[in-house]
Amino acid sequence: MPMQDLQNSFKRDGVAADLQTVITALLNVTKEISLAVRQGALAGVLGSAQVENVQGETQKKLDVIANDLLTAALRENSHVRALASEEEEHSVALFNSGKYIVAFDPLDGSSNIDINGQIGTIFTMYPALDNVASDSPAQFFQPGKNQLCAGYVLYGASTLLVLTNGGPTRCFTLDPHSNEWVLTNGQLQVPQNTEEFSINMANQRFWGDNFKRYIADLLLGETGVRGKRFNMRWNAAMVGDVHRVLTRGGIFMYPNDSRNPRQPAKLRLLYEANPMAMLIENAGGKACSEATNKIQRILEITPASLHQRVSVVLGSANEVDICNTYLFKRDQQAEPVLVENDEAY
Ligand code: AHG
Ligand code: MN
Ligand code: MN
Repeated sequence: MPMQDLQNSFKRDGVAADLQTVITALLNVTKEISLAVRQGALAGVLGSAQVENVQGETQKKLDVIANDLLTAALRENSHVRALASEEEEHSVALFNSGKYIVAFDPLDGSSNIDINGQIGTIFTMYPALDNVASDSPAQFFQPGKNQLCAGYVLYGASTLLVLTNGGPTRCFTLDPHSNEWVLTNGQLQVPQNTEEFSINMANQRFWGDNFKRYIADLLLGETGVRGKRFNMRWNAAMVGDVHRVLTRGGIFMYPNDSRNPRQPAKLRLLYEANPMAMLIENAGGKACSEATNKIQRILEITPASLHQRVSVVLGSANEVDICNTYLFKRDQQAEPVLVENDEAY
């Protein structure tokens, strides 16, 4: 019964009926975005919108279209207390009686829009805080482990939904004939070990020394301490890179760098790192971030601002642990300790 696949997964995960309406409303919008992406130049949706968002990034037309569609749909759902978007400077207060707050990256991988590459929508939902005003950004200052639901829709060769409601990370494929989500993998599982890494190598000279050493050892492959050859893939869209990791394992990294001292990290905690971290952990992987003198589990970081950025290392559990042993090392000469289990956070 493919038409009921999504509802069946809600039932299995015990998702509250009112939260189901919020998730469904958001997912219905992603079907519209998917259609616009498929039409591309025919619908006039490619190219720049000639405006900048609050983060100083030039918005693409599809960034604006996706943001407007998502915002409009959620504004009509009385269960939503507030929303936050990459494309909006402030959070938006909606219904005071709403029990949920929603955050999203309407269009991730914007630089891929005009090259017909992978792009997607990333979203997350939390319980609304009763002791915090609806219009306060502090509604969103909750650690990622509070997420009730996290997911993305990947507008790739197929349109895919990858979703967790606290249970397994599941994958659905949008059937272009019925326009329904059909369950195509009921439990994604990230392999513990990998020979594939994902990073923007152009930033190499801006990384810290410990991180440089980790990547250098990956590049040495079977001739270095790792003793095995690694391959590299980079889609320049977190949704595409994380989807590959969820499908066949790997390690995805966007570390701190010194390009702009006021902004050491690139990815946003609330609507990029946190939902991806939940999806990865619920598929058996790990997701962490480097802070001063420690490695943190991403889902335990409490945001202090809506658009806060964090360094990200996520994917195959054993490889994330190994990366962490390099990041945490203060003695430049010491050999890395290869960790075989999950004790390295
Ligand atoms: P967005 O398009 O929402 O601004 O996010 C882009 C992010 C992320 O998706 C991707 O991993 C990264 O930026 C790409 O960075 P580079 O430009 O360094 O490749
Ligand atoms: Mn993004
Ligand atoms: Mn975006």
